[in-house]
Parts: sequence; structure tokens; C-alpha cells
Amino acid sequence: MNTRSLARAQALLRKHVEDPARPAEFNLLGRDWELMDGVFAPTYTPVTELFTTWIPYPSGGTFLEMGCGAGVTAVVAAQSGCPRVTALDICAAAVENTRRNAARHGVGDRLRVLRSDMFDALGPEERFDMIFWNSNFVEAPEGFVNETELHHALFDPQYQAHRRFLEQAPRHLTEDGRLLLGFSDLGSSSLLRSMCDEAHLSVTLLRAEKRTLEETIEFQLLELRARRHGRWVMTR
Ligand SMILES: C[S@@+](CC[C@H](N)C(=O)[O-])C[C@H]1O[C@@H](n2cnc3c(N)ncnc32)[C@H](O)[C@@H]1O
Repeated sequence: MNTRSLARAQALLRKHVEDPARPAEFNLLGRDWELMDGVFAPTYTPVTELFTTWIPYPSGGTFLEMGCGAGVTAVVAAQSGCPRVTALDICAAAVENTRRNAARHGVGDRLRVLRSDMFDALGPEERFDMIFWNSNFVEAPEGFVNETELHHALFDPQYQAHRRFLEQAPRHLTEDGRLLLGFSDLGSSSLLRSMCDEAHLSVTLLRAEKRTLEETIEFQLLELRARRHGRWVMTR
């Protein structure tokens, strides 16, 4: 567990709750979006914009976004040639927020939004050409409890959600389906690595970029692939 990352996430959580200037609407990627209370704000960090821009959307294919928040990535996927998009979130406000932004941008017919703890709301046979999660990559220590739904946006106690994602996501991929994870150097890469190893997944860094906010953070788009031979690798 990294105390610097935990402090950074706690400061970001306070900003979400206490910022009197938190907007009810924001502009990102040339579009206006609604932002509801209790939902991860794509305005305080560049993470949503970076990943949404970097994802190689499977044109003509199905796309699943885990943890859709305000719905930016899911809506852009639906506008980027994915005829069927599924967006899941454990947070009820995020589900409603994504529905509203899907309607606002005219993709409500292509975007299904479900409240779900990981993949629980899906049928066991459902498969997708791409699954993506901009994860709650800050590892919280034993005893830490996500007290509100918003906590889930930032903290993952002992990486329990990550473990379930790595175990369950491959079962929901089509044969050539791709599994992407939005991560950063605030996350615990050693814990992620050992969990990927247990789940027989290799990790490739597709893209990374450093941005200086209060401090410099490297945002990383990772691809996780079923590992057939050899050990876990992280290639740059
Ligand atoms: C870093 S936020 C990203 C939100 C949004 N995708 C974005 O980029 O703005 C992580 C999201 O994952 C969701 N999440 C965390 N744990 C989850 C779980 N067990 N099941 C479903 N969603 C979860 C959070 O509620 C949050 O919306």
C-alpha cells in the first residue's frame, strides 16, 4: 500500500464533496456533459479524457465499459462505430448520469446502462469485443471501507475489485476480444502484476503519458492478454 497514493486519492475525494465550484455540467472532447452529485468528476484530473481518446474502439463491435461514471467513454464508444455498448457501474448515481448523457448525445438506443457490482448484472453468456475499465487504482489498506458509493471511484480495498475484474472479464470476451485497463503510477503495479499472474494474463503498456497536477502522475492504458507461454511481461 502506497501512502502517497492514498493521500492523493483522499484529497481528490474531498474535492469531489467540498468543492463549491463543482460544476453540474462540463465540456470535454468538444461535447457538453451533465455531472451529477456523487459521481466521479472527469474535470479534476485528465484521466477520463486521456483514456477516452486513446482507446482503439472496435468499430462494428461490442464494447463494455466497467465503471462508466458520468458516461463519457461509453457515449464516445457509441459515437465511434460501436453499435452496441454496455455500461456498468456499482454507483446508482453514475448509472443515471450515464443514461442522461447517452440521451443527451442521441445514443440511448445503442447504450445499455446497468447498475452492477463488477459483472454481476450480466448473463453468463454475454461476450464483448472490448472490455475497458478506468479503474479505482488506489489500493486501500486492510480495514479501509468504501463508505459511500463515490469512494468506489477512487479506492479499491486490497484490490478486491481488481482481482474480480481480472478473473471475470476474460469470460466475457469474444474469441478475439480485447481487455483494457486504465491505470496509473498511483496504482500498485506489483500487486496488479501478481494478480495478473494468478489470472494467467500478460500485461502490455499500450500508451502512457505524464501529467503534472499537484504532482506528476503517469497515466497508463494497459492491455491484458490471456498468457499462453512464459511469465508475466510488461512491455513498453
Ligand atoms: C476512476 S472512476 C472512472 C469513471 C469514468 N469511467 C470516467 O472515466 O470518468 C471508476 C469507476 O469505477 C466504478 N467502480 C468501482 N468499483 C466497481 C465495481 N465493483 N463494480 C462496478 N463499478 C465499479 C466507480 O463507481 C467509478 O464510476
